[in-house]
Amino acid sequence: MLGQSRGPSHKIAGVSPPPAPIPGARLLFSVDQAIAYLNHGSFGAVPVPVQRAQQRLRDEMETNPQRFFTAGLWERIGHARTHLSQFLGADPESTAFVPNVTAAISIVLRSIGLTAGREVVTTSHGYGSVDLAVDHMCERAGASHVKAVAPLSATDDEIVATVTASITPGRTQLVIVDHVTSATARVMPIARLVAAAKARDVPVMVDAAHAPGAHAVNVDAIGADFWVGNLHKWLYAPRPTAILSVAEKWRERIEPPVISWANNDGYPANLEMGGTLDYTPWLTAPTGLYVLRTLGIDRVRTHNGTLAAYGQRVVGAALGLLSPSELPNPGGINAPMRVLPLPRQFARTEAEAHTLRLRIADELRVVVPVISWRGRGMLRLSAQVYNHADEYDRLATGLPRLLAELN
Ligand SMILES: Cc1ncc(COP(=O)(O)O)c(C=O)c1O
Repeated sequence: MLGQSRGPSHKIAGVSPPPAPIPGARLLFSVDQAIAYLNHGSFGAVPVPVQRAQQRLRDEMETNPQRFFTAGLWERIGHARTHLSQFLGADPESTAFVPNVTAAISIVLRSIGLTAGREVVTTSHGYGSVDLAVDHMCERAGASHVKAVAPLSATDDEIVATVTASITPGRTQLVIVDHVTSATARVMPIARLVAAAKARDVPVMVDAAHAPGAHAVNVDAIGADFWVGNLHKWLYAPRPTAILSVAEKWRERIEPPVISWANNDGYPANLEMGGTLDYTPWLTAPTGLYVLRTLGIDRVRTHNGTLAAYGQRVVGAALGLLSPSELPNPGGINAPMRVLPLPRQFARTEAEAHTLRLRIADELRVVVPVISWRGRGMLRLSAQVYNHADEYDRLATGLPRLLAELN
């Protein structure tokens, strides 16, 4: 049966068939096959060969910790960084490993020297903890957090217009824009947003938490002052692994969050060296890229985008959302995450969203984030090579009953 369309999709006119599974791909992951795991987006899932590669490094570390940490570790990290930077189109000189996007946001906010009366601009589609970091740093500095508001259905032109209108040259000290948003799974017109900030001579940071692996990325062509992307989501790297790229004019001003032995060595060593830590995720990250390349980057992107679109249509139909205009457009056919607005009475608050997520997990055996975005409940469906059409069909079959019970 694998690869054939079945389940609710048969009954819905206009639902294009799901993609054929990539042979063998599901077996590369240790995701529990008894559940439908439709949340690759939040934490990723590490392929088994990558888990093994990391374990081999840990074994090496434990056979002789002294040798592991003092003989060639930083050269090995440098090789891994260069390899991954080249894949991302980033000048290796500009990049540093950081644990994750969260860390990079705080590093940049602390490094720009935010001052009283100035502003940091984000969008209403931004990530919650990034908002908290901006609020915190603005409060400490006497600066303000300005949010450019755009509805779920906003076009690229509308998004560019609202961000541009929120920038005040001379007052805005940093603009933070997402390549792919978390709550709304929207691919943003990132090149246009960066260009808009640069045209006004305002520094700009790209939060590309979901971009590496999932979308074509050329960091240098984007040209932001700061760019950060997680490799532990769609590039199959072990957690925590992210790459930060910093434009040359800022590198000397980067404030390491932790002072360690490389403090006088400048960027990126002063950022990467954090004392005795487990550096094996960074060293293993190239193996994640290798697995993705072996499966075929374009093949994986087409598979995941097509399956996410299938899931959105089939679960959307179960919720009575039938026309393409009712289904939020992620901003590209190969986007592996898509959202579905729930009927308005559900998941209006974080607490309601949490309860619904747990019930879907317990009763339908489907792991899917339920998000409360500006008072509107939404489901965010991810698609990865270990997913199959059946899993979205199961959600589509069970969700209406569960919502009716909650009503
Ligand atoms: C847009 C965005 N920014 C930042 C983050 C934070 O990522 P991390 O927890 O890996 O730092 C996420 C996580 O999903 C995200 O979606």
